Amino acid sequence: MPTRRRAAALAAVLLIGSLTACGQEARGGSRYKPDTGKGGTIGLAMPTKSSERWIADGKNMAEQFRKAGYKTDLQYGDDKVENQVAQIENMITKGHRLLVVAAINGSALTEVLQRANDAGIPVISYDRLILGTPHVDYYASFDNEKVGRLQGQYILDQLKLKKPDKNAGESYSIELFAGSPNDNNTKYFWGGAMKVLKPYFDSGQLVVRSKQTKMNQATTQDWNGGIAQKRMDDLISKSYGDQKVDAVLSPYDGMSLGIISALKSAGYRGKDLPVVTGQDAELASVKSIIRGEQTQTVFKDTRKLAQQAVQMGDALLTGKKPEVNNTTDYDNGKRVVPAYLLNPVSVDKSNTELLVDEGYFTAGQLK
Ligand code: GAL
Repeated sequence: MPTRRRAAALAAVLLIGSLTACGQEARGGSRYKPDTGKGGTIGLAMPTKSSERWIADGKNMAEQFRKAGYKTDLQYGDDKVENQVAQIENMITKGHRLLVVAAINGSALTEVLQRANDAGIPVISYDRLILGTPHVDYYASFDNEKVGRLQGQYILDQLKLKKPDKNAGESYSIELFAGSPNDNNTKYFWGGAMKVLKPYFDSGQLVVRSKQTKMNQATTQDWNGGIAQKRMDDLISKSYGDQKVDAVLSPYDGMSLGIISALKSAGYRGKDLPVVTGQDAELASVKSIIRGEQTQTVFKDTRKLAQQAVQMGDALLTGKKPEVNNTTDYDNGKRVVPAYLLNPVSVDKSNTELLVDEGYFTAGQLK
């Protein structure tokens, strides 16, 4: 930017800063720009297009914000932190009124969100909690710990493990996968699943033959299906020989499909395939469930999540109080972020029609 234009831009930011300061007094401590009601542009910063769900999240929010009377600027960061930071910076420079961010790295946005705050722009953390900054106003997500519990419980149910019993005399083998190490959700999914599974590790009814039982041994950078496939290949060749894997905890559909490819390369077919969990009810995985390969997924309706973000954003911009249902659990290290958490639902072969009834997919798509 030429120096003169840069100086003008800086002056504009300072002016906005001082307007915000006036606004603060006028609105009893609120640090936002004074209300101007509907209108203006909402910046939507999504992580990647490599997964169907984020494409749907972006599209749903853009549609719903437009219906509520706003323009939108939807950007995808291609799973690269520097892209996402640059996109958010750009949104601030353009004077967008609100940012909705699904972070690529939950801990990497401190500086850019300081700038958003200086410009009086509120921030909603979408699906993934942004960490280490006080400048996150609200959080819209699902009950992430419950996602993990649903996955763990599904495995127990399929293996007919009803209660921990040291004398059961029978054990099943299981391998464990966790999500991306830079996503705050990873530890909630893992924690929820472990809460349910641990008593059966302790009783010896579930055995992790690879001995990779710690979260940091099981994480999968960027939730990448290829990385999960490679790790599953290694686990099978190093720890299984002629033994069978009975269950695989997978926290996300894109990884589940990679894991299933590895299992198929190792000769698993049809009923031999282990129980493999997942998350997001992505079309390819739902079809895999119907074919009898992936066993389960966790359905999180992205339309409802978008609705919550829009409800929060619209309330913030029109001087109302966003609706929340959790004000205690989502501490990002700098503040407890008020949250609205939606309910995740377990889906397997027995209830895929739920996705059609809910209008998430058409019956034709699932054929
Ligand atoms: C998580 C999200 C999951 C899944 C995963 C990979 O943050 O909560 O639903 O989408 O990212 O994209």
